[in-house]
Amino acid sequence: MGMSEQAAGRAEGQDAGFAAELRAATWSDHGDNEGSAYMSALVEGRLGREEYAVLVAQLYHVYDLLERAAETMAADPVAGPFVFPDLRRREALEADLAYLYGPGWAARIEPGEAATRYAERLREVCFDWPGGFVAHHYTRYMGDLSGGQYIGRQVQRSLDLGRDDAGVLFYRFPGKPKGYKDAYRELLDAAPWDAAERARVIDEVKLAYRLNADITTELSRELRIEPAA
Ligand code: HEM
Repeated sequence: MGMSEQAAGRAEGQDAGFAAELRAATWSDHGDNEGSAYMSALVEGRLGREEYAVLVAQLYHVYDLLERAAETMAADPVAGPFVFPDLRRREALEADLAYLYGPGWAARIEPGEAATRYAERLREVCFDWPGGFVAHHYTRYMGDLSGGQYIGRQVQRSLDLGRDDAGVLFYRFPGKPKGYKDAYRELLDAAPWDAAERARVIDEVKLAYRLNADITTELSRELRIEPAA
């Protein structure tokens, strides 16, 4: 078939690769994250620095485990190619935490119940199931490269964090987000998964969205953040 027919087939979702299938199958789960009271308040500039810092602290516990899994999976023929060194966020998170909590940050942060449950799931599926690792890796890093770019800009502006991206280094990647996202989608399309395995990965991404939404729901409750009027 010609180029234009191919493009039309994609637009209708026929014949589309796994990247498009995964996105379409999980986009409604994404909405629960984007729409949480905490996230809305954060991007609308209604939170203070300490309220933002608690989210960074929760994310640290998640990435700590996810990136330990990445080290384990780096040699795996299917999951290994997804492990781009540029995506690693641990050092950036540590620098942001040092800026937000001071040099004693490590003793001052604590995972809440939701981050603890999320970390447990990562421990269960990301160290010996390549598809499970990719599901969780995709949910976080493709999010950081997408909506995360907007979140980072809003936080930097509204919290007046100062120069050099202090406090929002987590959202800064060495290269352009689009380049990483295009490469990531090509890897998803190339993964050698049959329909049953694709369905398992989709289910794990839905769970990953839920685990993320649980973190911001918990923060909304603890910090008593009201939905926008
Ligand atoms: C204020 C909060 C958020 C906003 C405004 C937002 C917005 C967006 C937008 C506009 C896109 C599409 C970008 C594109 O097509 O290139 C996107 C993609 C994505 N977001 Fe979010 N997002 C938010 C929170 C989150 C959270 C908390 C997660 C999960 C941890 C997440 C995970 C993702 C993923 C995985 C994608 C890529 C989907 C794909 O193309 O396969 N997002 N986001």
